[in-house]
Amino acid sequence: MHRRTFLTGIAGLAVTSSVTALVAIEKSNSAGNMNMAGMDMGDAGSPRAEGMPVLPEGQPLRELPRLANQSGEAGLFRTSLAAEPATLRFAEGLDTPVLLYNRGNPVIEAREGDRIEIDFTNGIPDQPTTVHWHGMPVPAEQDGNPMAPVAAGASQRFTFDLPQASAAPYWFHPHPHGHTAEQVYRGLAGIFLVKPKNDPIPAEYGDTILMLTDLRLAADGSIPENGMMDHMNGRVGDHVLVNGQKNPVLAVAKGEKRRLRLFNATNARFLRLSFENASMVLIGTDGGLLEAPLALDELLLAPAERVELVVAFDQPGSARLTTLDYERGWMGPGKPDEAGMSLFTVNVSDKPAPVMPVLPARLRQIAPLPTPVKTRRFVLTESMSGMSMAFQINGASFDMNRIDEVMKTGDVELWEIVNKADMDHPFHVHGTQFQIVEYEKDGKITKAPYRSWKDTVNVVSGQTVRFLIRQDMPGQRMYHCHILEHEDLGMMGLLEVRA
Ligand code: C2O
Ligand code: CU
Ligand code: CU
Repeated sequence: MHRRTFLTGIAGLAVTSSVTALVAIEKSNSAGNMNMAGMDMGDAGSPRAEGMPVLPEGQPLRELPRLANQSGEAGLFRTSLAAEPATLRFAEGLDTPVLLYNRGNPVIEAREGDRIEIDFTNGIPDQPTTVHWHGMPVPAEQDGNPMAPVAAGASQRFTFDLPQASAAPYWFHPHPHGHTAEQVYRGLAGIFLVKPKNDPIPAEYGDTILMLTDLRLAADGSIPENGMMDHMNGRVGDHVLVNGQKNPVLAVAKGEKRRLRLFNATNARFLRLSFENASMVLIGTDGGLLEAPLALDELLLAPAERVELVVAFDQPGSARLTTLDYERGWMGPGKPDEAGMSLFTVNVSDKPAPVMPVLPARLRQIAPLPTPVKTRRFVLTESMSGMSMAFQINGASFDMNRIDEVMKTGDVELWEIVNKADMDHPFHVHGTQFQIVEYEKDGKITKAPYRSWKDTVNVVSGQTVRFLIRQDMPGQRMYHCHILEHEDLGMMGLLEVRA
């Protein structure tokens, strides 16, 4: 068993918190049981207090609001978007101040080949923000980099073209330096669905977005600030919500098949999911459809990852999307109960549905990226810097004035992400999609079981993940851990892509 002792504090590291507690934590990563020495949590830990608000469950699944296309022109999608304070009522009788885009978590739906124009306004009173188009092939200067903040009260027009073959379930969220985690846990995120010209998935399956977020509410209904444990592990809330609802319900007829698109829009929640009383087929990942459907019993959806599923509801009764336990290397006390949550319930009637078309055996072709011209290595570490915990890539914390890597447009490279830390870290690259080649752990290499496009990959503690990547547009791109607290604390680097 591997044990290490950390002397941990975040004084001098935390950007958004004034916590200066100093605690010693003995952490056991492999067995999942934690022993604490000298822990004094104070109020620095995750408050899971009594009197925690109760959220209603079992309401009909809401659809997220769609942003209307204000352009009359074919091939042009134009809309306006504002990040603003708002109030939501999650629990009976309690108002929760939040931050939202156009008063919600909206969906932008466009098509391959469309031109996009979005007039954005930052209505957050006291903070800069940006809008980052997660996973999308947009020009670097349109991608909401932390180097290009939109000041409080200011506006910016984002414009880009959606290339052919870019259909995929993307999302968007803020990316301002040091405020990303907070703006996301307060509510800022939306979905960007790019639809293909011809969709091989039968329209009869529908197209249902399930946006997974994570909410923590104090007894008065407010969203508490991050504490020390949140900075270390990433913030895990008390309620995993689907489209803003706790365990919402969808009614289907026996024999129905549904296309479900799952988005992990939480700050730091690892979701190991299974569907009880229904059969799941994976049809797509971050960057769109697979080549062929793949039956699954369970899947791990790390922060920022997406999957597309076709789920068949053949047994009358209730089919539930539930969580299984997952060891992601929790540091210190307060490890949340991951297993046994019902996130979403489908009520399957006895009355049979009209016969559904079959899912095609081939969905599309994904051309393999060719032989790489070079290998680039990224080592993820957690270490002490003075009295603080540092999350770093290649021994450095993020500095927007330092270019960490230089790459040429059009070059295929093999990236090797080595996790020498005790926690899993989901690694994400901006501006492109990559193809995973293999995973290595304890000297054992496992090839990727199928080819797919990804923009985020979970790198398990002690594991190395290798993927092929190409950047087609010049400019500055970020790569980082998508536990947003880690990103804010510096587990991010700057890639300059040169023509
Ligand atoms: Cu969704 Cu830089 O990330
Ligand atoms: Cu991104
Ligand atoms: Cu991380």
